[in-house]
Amino acid sequence: RNVRVVGVPMDLGADRRGVDMGPSAIRYAGLAAAVEETDRECIDAGDLNVPRPETRASKPRPEDGRAKYLSETREVCASLADVVGDTLAAGEFPLVLGGDHSIAIGTVNGAARAADVGVVWFDAHGDFNTPSTSPSGNVHGMSLAALLGVGEFADTSWAAAGVDPENVALVGIRDLDPEERVAVRESPATVYTMSDVDERGLPAVVEDALAIAGDGTDGVHVSLDMDFLDPNEAPGVGTPVRGGATYREAHAAMERVADLGDDLRTMEVVEVNPILDSLNGTSELAVELVASALGKRILR
Ligand code: ARG
Ligand code: MN
Ligand code: MN
Ligand code: MN
Repeated sequence: RNVRVVGVPMDLGADRRGVDMGPSAIRYAGLAAAVEETDRECIDAGDLNVPRPETRASKPRPEDGRAKYLSETREVCASLADVVGDTLAAGEFPLVLGGDHSIAIGTVNGAARAADVGVVWFDAHGDFNTPSTSPSGNVHGMSLAALLGVGEFADTSWAAAGVDPENVALVGIRDLDPEERVAVRESPATVYTMSDVDERGLPAVVEDALAIAGDGTDGVHVSLDMDFLDPNEAPGVGTPVRGGATYREAHAAMERVADLGDDLRTMEVVEVNPILDSLNGTSELAVELVASALGKRILR
């Protein structure tokens, strides 16, 4: 399948500005060439339009509760869902570049439009807050809860993607807010923390996570938040947390993702912040990990 790249220069969902430059930085790191090395054609659909925060009121609208820019996020995610849905309908593979993690609401809604999908969420964070539990008001910390229709998001037809939480696995988790921890534990989604990785090794954990997402579904969405990696490997992220995946662990994880073959339905790479990065290294790593997920091997 051809790969269609969709950039989403979204920074409305995070406090640290600069994550809107992620799509440019990832392209500049050689994305198209790396995709083509996996024997696929790489078509670039360009970037979606995202409103600049400077043009909008930062105070949440009353209807958005404490979630900042939720109305703008809804609009961007609606157009992203359309692009992802159309790309899949055309028989192509959507590769979405963030932007902050709020865009997952759009990607997963598009992925789930014509099929039953499971989700594997590689992240330091649970992204399981809701407008009432979030300590920050930032939607990137709510996106998984939103697309699963958790809490107040149960009343939002636009966010909930109809994904069965039994088919959702989180991997690499090491930072949860107090109420978020309760929500994640109450959810049927499976959480693999960094302690599980320590005990069992990342490849085994990822195999289980992929099996959960693939169980009875038509395909799997992989959401890769670059703060899944240790900040030593990926410094260019807005919310770094020590103790993340190493370079080699992350490659091994993406090689297990590649084993899905055509069952890998969609993928997104999010939270790259070039302003906080060191010489675009986090984008270069993102490109390498995408290539591994698409099947690049040392011995081909
Ligand atoms: N839990 C924190 C919050 O709700 C941080 C979330 C970070 N999320 C991310 N996608 N990087 O604000
Ligand atoms: Mn995240
Ligand atoms: Mn994160
Ligand atoms: Mn199911």
